[in-house]
Amino acid sequence: MPNPIFPALLFSFAAMVLLLFASVSPPVWDKISFLDVRTPAGETVFGVFGMCIKHGQCSHRSVGYALSAAGAANVNLNSTVLHNLTYTLILHPIAGFLAFLSLVFGLLGIAIANRILTILMSVFAFLGAFIGLVVFVIDMVLWNVLKNRLHDADISAKLGNANWLTVAAVFALFLSTCTAMLGAFGRFATGRAAGEKY
Ligand SMILES: *[C@@H]1O[C@H](CO)[C@@H](O)[C@H](O)[C@H]1NC(C)=O
Repeated sequence: MPNPIFPALLFSFAAMVLLLFASVSPPVWDKISFLDVRTPAGETVFGVFGMCIKHGQCSHRSVGYALSAAGAANVNLNSTVLHNLTYTLILHPIAGFLAFLSLVFGLLGIAIANRILTILMSVFAFLGAFIGLVVFVIDMVLWNVLKNRLHDADISAKLGNANWLTVAAVFALFLSTCTAMLGAFGRFATGRAAGEKY
């Protein structure tokens, strides 16, 4: 039976990649987005650090940005609360960084067969899962409120793939948390498999 640390490494790696994709959203890459708004004036896509009009202009890259969409000037998208929520989108890359730390500690834990490092792996995966869950809840509020305001004005808006990347990463990090714990404390714990006594 293989050591559960290996699936844990895989889950943390997958979560890191998923959160990296979610973070490299508009204004950097317009294929990934949290919300797609279509009007005759163009398709606006929203990301972690800004937004783009597809085949057109992008906003500057910044933590927190003013919400607006091409052809939707009559809809109040940039209200104070929603604008403030855009600052919290930075939690996507932060959760991704925690996934990265959990991967690093997992690899170190294997390399030097140290249980403490495997426990740290699990702790960072848990923190990443928690931050990821918080920001996913914020995503659901922010993007759905915007979507509903646009729908009320008869403008087409739908949630984008970045939301599902985020929730998949949260699942992967919870799985990593559990499997790493199993790796640290189960009967396959690295040290014990190597004959070491704790
Ligand atoms: C967006 O809303 C924030 C907070 O109310 C405000 O400070 C900012 O000037 C607004 N930006 C635009 C372009 O309306």
